[in-house]
Amino acid sequence: MEKLTLRDVDLKNKTVLVRADFNVPQDASLNITDDTRIRSTIPTLKYILEQGAKKLVLVSHLGRPDGKPVAKYSLKPVAVRLRELLGVDVLFLNDCIGDSIKPDIDKSKEKVVLLENLRYHAEEEGNDAGFSRQLASLADIFVNDAFGTAHRAHASTEGVTHFLKSCAGLLLEKEIKYLGDAVKDPQKPFVVILGGAKVSDKIGVIENLLPKCDAIIVGGGMAYTFLKAQGKQIGNSKLEKDKLDLARSILDQAKQLKKEILLPVDNVIVDAIDANAKTEIVGENIPEGKIAVDIGPGTIKLFEEKLKTAKTIVWNGPMGIFEMDAFSKGTKELAEFIGSLKCISIIGGGDTAAAVAKFKLEDKMSHISTGGGASLEFLEGKALPGIAALTDR
Ligand code: 3PG
Repeated sequence: MEKLTLRDVDLKNKTVLVRADFNVPQDASLNITDDTRIRSTIPTLKYILEQGAKKLVLVSHLGRPDGKPVAKYSLKPVAVRLRELLGVDVLFLNDCIGDSIKPDIDKSKEKVVLLENLRYHAEEEGNDAGFSRQLASLADIFVNDAFGTAHRAHASTEGVTHFLKSCAGLLLEKEIKYLGDAVKDPQKPFVVILGGAKVSDKIGVIENLLPKCDAIIVGGGMAYTFLKAQGKQIGNSKLEKDKLDLARSILDQAKQLKKEILLPVDNVIVDAIDANAKTEIVGENIPEGKIAVDIGPGTIKLFEEKLKTAKTIVWNGPMGIFEMDAFSKGTKELAEFIGSLKCISIIGGGDTAAAVAKFKLEDKMSHISTGGGASLEFLEGKALPGIAALTDR
């Protein structure tokens, strides 16, 4: 690590400001439906308390309230879940800045304080220096554990580091270790699996990882733009017409670099995307009017054959519409297969993490990123402002 980590700093009797990513999904009654991001940051919070910190002040955003208070984006439900997971009382304050915040923190009997949504103030996303200074004034040291928000240069991720000694939390450190090694120095053979709807979302990752990996496996909606570029029939499957030339040039580039790009050789097709639709399996060519919704059994076998000798696997994007059980087999079988391998398996955040959670395979993977956009940008080789801004060792 080029940056200070929690283990490099003295936390005894210090008030510690922690930026977490508590941007968790909730249902209409504001129940948290997936608390992975809260659970992932608990080791950092426990470590800080064990080191004898005086106070732990937690800040985060939730949703996109656009600079004003919006009740449904309150972090209050997160305070309740935090109390359960940490096993200590958590004081929740109704704002994150203002004259009363520091006195309220100082006089609280609770060691852990969660402040209200940072994005209730436009200055957060505006990376306003005054706002950053006010946040910094609450503490002696800053810890960034919000990997999911590290691609944003906001007041609580970047700005605040100009006013406090700033280090990486344990979760941020783990994300940098796994994703960073995969990008810089992967154990080989290194196989990248890309899926999801759009080629356009993954261009940066392909450009960055193609020279470093041994093979790229492509499934999901994005595969059909590649198949079309190869002259295959794709029926009514997902197509990004304006990316056909790009798909061709990626296939050419792979050939020049002697890297393999593996595409579906058979597909699960339907007439219309409906959970109860009748499915059929066809080869590479998809008949007129039909839509591919998952990879077929021959493709699963082909992909597994390539993966079985890999030492590092990075997976970003599902192989089909896994949210519908009838179209989830490709994603599920691939996840089970990867989970059975003794290799470094790194799962990108967002949909791929949701798929692995759906199939209850979280424990079988080396690392599941808590960042959606952040993990993509990391794999694109970009410097993330929330990491770059931390204090150098
Ligand atoms: C995420 O969910 O990807 C992060 O919390 C960042 O949220 P944002 O895209 O609203 O900045």
